[in-house]
Amino acid sequence: MLGRARIKYQTNHMADLTVHIGGLELKNPVTTASGCFGYGPEFTDFMDISRLGGIFVKGTTGGLREGNPYPRMAETHSGMLNSVGLQNKGVDYFIDHIYPAIKDYKTNFIVNVSGSTIDEYVEVAEKLAGLEKIPGIELNISCPNVKEGGMVFGTHCPSAVAVTEAVRKIFPKTLIVKLSPNVTSVPEFAKAIEGAGADALSLINTLLAMAIDAEKRKPVLATVTGGLSGPAIKPVALRMVWEAYHSVSIPVIGIGGIMNATDAIEFLLAGAAAIQIGTANFIDPAVSMKVINGIDDYLVRHGFSSVRELTGKLELPGGFNRFRPKTF
Ligand SMILES: Cc1cc2nc3c(=O)[nH]c(=O)nc-3n(C[C@H](O)[C@H](O)[C@H](O)COP(=O)(O)O)c2cc1C
Repeated sequence: MLGRARIKYQTNHMADLTVHIGGLELKNPVTTASGCFGYGPEFTDFMDISRLGGIFVKGTTGGLREGNPYPRMAETHSGMLNSVGLQNKGVDYFIDHIYPAIKDYKTNFIVNVSGSTIDEYVEVAEKLAGLEKIPGIELNISCPNVKEGGMVFGTHCPSAVAVTEAVRKIFPKTLIVKLSPNVTSVPEFAKAIEGAGADALSLINTLLAMAIDAEKRKPVLATVTGGLSGPAIKPVALRMVWEAYHSVSIPVIGIGGIMNATDAIEFLLAGAAAIQIGTANFIDPAVSMKVINGIDDYLVRHGFSSVRELTGKLELPGGFNRFRPKTF
């Protein structure tokens, strides 16, 4: 069985793969996306997870959440829809039961934080700030703000700013804010969230979508709509990462349909300082090791000594060169 295979991917790095995100040093730009890699140890049969630049762990809320009713997954052309609904056992469970099991791995564990109110985000962030081996958090602002009547934090700029500012006040470590793609202007949100004190941006979260079963004349998901991920969203994600990179001075982490090293390199060229791999882990649990090795090969083949030289290296047609180059 694949699960027992204990395949380890090794490489002798030729290029410098180190990148910096806020106060974090990542040994390489390859990380795994929240909700798609558990807490990390689930994957130790397939790889040495300490080789990852970082692991963005499952979305964590103030209290236990059961998640949405089933069915909550659907396959689509070149992607998948999910409406898992932040199923998790809450931050106290994470601190008591998960943290002891992950804290000695030599990678960056970044906790993905969600909430229905600003107070809930602050409560979770404050508790996580006290954990020595958690160097940063990623705010998932794609949750409905119950106090604002169900408006999603990440699609209402003043709410996105308010939650970022509130968490920034009490969280001194690296604060990454994950942007929703379900907005008209990514630069507007990117600039506002940078102004609110984020150390980095990650994007994109899933695209709001739906699937229909024509024979049954019913939606496939119990929640009717869900989030689209996988290769289908990569072109949208690349455009948004490119826009965000040229709107802010803080690092941008690229996410969306990355299946192999070439996809990851495209995100780096568009302006990402690091990348997250989500849906691809469900198809090949060791994909991230192959992506690390593939980036290394590319750097050597193209004569780059450091992966940092690739960020934003997209050669634009004349007229687009108003954008400034950056280094991280
Ligand atoms: C099953 C599933 C669960 C997810 N759970 C979360 C989550 O808890 N928090 C979050 O910010 N994003 C979550 N995401 C979004 C991913 O982290 C990622 O942003 C998105 O899937 C796009 O990347 P991909 O195309 O590589 O999957 C989830 C995605 C999937 C498919």
